[in-house]
Amino acid sequence: MIKKYTSGNPICTEAFIEKYDSLNISEFPLVNRVENNKFVFEFDMQDNDIVYGLGEAPRGINKRGWVYESFCSDDPFHTETKSSLYAAHNFLMLYGSKTFGLFVDFPARVRWDIGYTSTNKTVITIDGTDFDIYVIDGSKPIEIVKEFRSAIGKSYIPPFWAFGFQQSRWSYPDKQAVDKVIDGYNKANIPLDCVYLDIDYMERYKDFTVDEQKFPNFADYVKEKKEQGIHLIPIIDAGVKKEENYEVYEEGIENDYFCKNGDGSVFEGGVWPGIVGFPDFLRKDVREWFGSKYKILTDAGIDGFWNDMNEPAIFYSTKGLNAAIEKASSLKGKNLDLSQFFNLKDTFLGLSNSPADYSSIYHTVDGKQVCHDRVHNIYGANMTKAAGEYFEKEFGNGKILMFSRASYVGAHRSSGIWFGDNHSWWSHILLNLKMLPSANMCGFLYCGADLGGFNENATRDLVLRFLALGVFTPLMRNHSALGTRDQECYNFENSKDFKDILEVRYRLIPYLYDTFCKASENNDMIFRPLSFDYPDDKIARECETQLMLGDECMICPVYEQNVSGRYVYLPEDMTFVKLSGENVVTEKMTKGTHYIEVSLNEVPLFIKNGKQIPLCKPAMRTGLLDRENLEYIY
Ligand code: GLC
Repeated sequence: MIKKYTSGNPICTEAFIEKYDSLNISEFPLVNRVENNKFVFEFDMQDNDIVYGLGEAPRGINKRGWVYESFCSDDPFHTETKSSLYAAHNFLMLYGSKTFGLFVDFPARVRWDIGYTSTNKTVITIDGTDFDIYVIDGSKPIEIVKEFRSAIGKSYIPPFWAFGFQQSRWSYPDKQAVDKVIDGYNKANIPLDCVYLDIDYMERYKDFTVDEQKFPNFADYVKEKKEQGIHLIPIIDAGVKKEENYEVYEEGIENDYFCKNGDGSVFEGGVWPGIVGFPDFLRKDVREWFGSKYKILTDAGIDGFWNDMNEPAIFYSTKGLNAAIEKASSLKGKNLDLSQFFNLKDTFLGLSNSPADYSSIYHTVDGKQVCHDRVHNIYGANMTKAAGEYFEKEFGNGKILMFSRASYVGAHRSSGIWFGDNHSWWSHILLNLKMLPSANMCGFLYCGADLGGFNENATRDLVLRFLALGVFTPLMRNHSALGTRDQECYNFENSKDFKDILEVRYRLIPYLYDTFCKASENNDMIFRPLSFDYPDDKIARECETQLMLGDECMICPVYEQNVSGRYVYLPEDMTFVKLSGENVVTEKMTKGTHYIEVSLNEVPLFIKNGKQIPLCKPAMRTGLLDRENLEYIY
């Protein structure tokens, strides 16, 4: 059962599709108070209680013992001391002595102190007094998730081919570079379905343009790639370049579509293209306008996009940069003491994503001027909604691949997410794993991390182990940053190992796609913490390195370097399966802890007793998979 408590006049985020009668906040059952215009509420936890939720967030599956903040942040260092990542997924669930779920529907900052200040207390601070809180009752975690999910609406289902393997890099700047990637994969006989176009495909980083020099006759080229079974997926950034005669910018100015400063002038910030205007995605007319621009690319045959920099990321504002330059000029030639020097340095470092800039931007919501601070967490979600609404209208559901970096609950209905700029660190394999069930709880099913890691150089073994987890994630994309080592599978020695891993993915696609569609249809999770299935098993309850997948399996990636396997805990008797290319090795194992040997070209998997999963033959493209003739393993 869901109860909704309303305080003040909340901004409608459209997170929920189900309507509930509002109870007054004075009836809210948890201890609460208003402090400095913030609503603070709390609940006690017993030692063994678990706290789940917060979707894409740092740290563990069990969120206890840290303070998190819902504040969509462009932060490429996903270390455990961070509080926020790119998303704001305000769902939390207490599981144990008491079990209930909460959703705080509020588009500005929310602070979640989950046993950080006081070990057995969760204190939630909403940065305002206009909000809705939903309380979801249920005795089992999965019931709570399903109830919540049915109220927020069904999760986005991408096209089937979006389950194929995807290769990205910042950047493949031109057609020659893209062809080289496809050729590399073809020659190594490694399956591939998508190649990404990062910012350099555009003309001077202008959204909805394609650089003719780099991609002459773009539509013909897209068609040619489609005939080879390859989808090209261009990036779209939130900011629109300020440039004379650039149609999108000029239309934005003429129609007053951009976010404003307090004085009504257009807010100007610097991102990849230099100065940009930020479309006011909170307005329906602006969404319709921006959404219809995707047509420029869909008309050229493009059927997949990734929306980026939509927290929004702002490298600097014109105002901020000018002030910093003035400050630096005034200090020129002076003998700076330590504090003056660091102050100057911090002035420049603090230019990006600065709170001062965010609080100087204005949106129009229901005809009223609203400071960006108040709606920060739904900006990116509304950018994605702009695209989603257009795609649905033009193509119907499930035809266009769409995923975003920033998100809020509700965006799960029209897109997936990727987990942003991670690192080529071993610890990020596990971080990837931990985000999966949390994201699923919040409705985001089509998700995944940059496999191999985005920032810094990856080693061959890291990419292989990362991919062996990615075999199971709906979005399976290898992506890496500008200046890093080549990370395409065929660029490493003995590419046969990569082929072995990727063929396993293709063999599993019918099963994974089916599991995905069922989860979307039934408001279910694809990935669950072990405790959901084995609530009375202490080791399972505490397990953060394995996940249940669908009704049939348990996954357990190897996540350390220079090891030949890992320890795995079986909460019941299961079949251990090692998949590699077309090889399948099975072994019955009993409940308990085992050390499993897993080579770099193998994907480990456990199948529950009495369950079986289908495998098809591998193929070079999803379109070539024979989905009828399946072999079952158990
Ligand atoms: C951002 C994105 C990353 C992309 C880069 C250049 O950092 O998160 O994926 O490669 O921008 O567009």
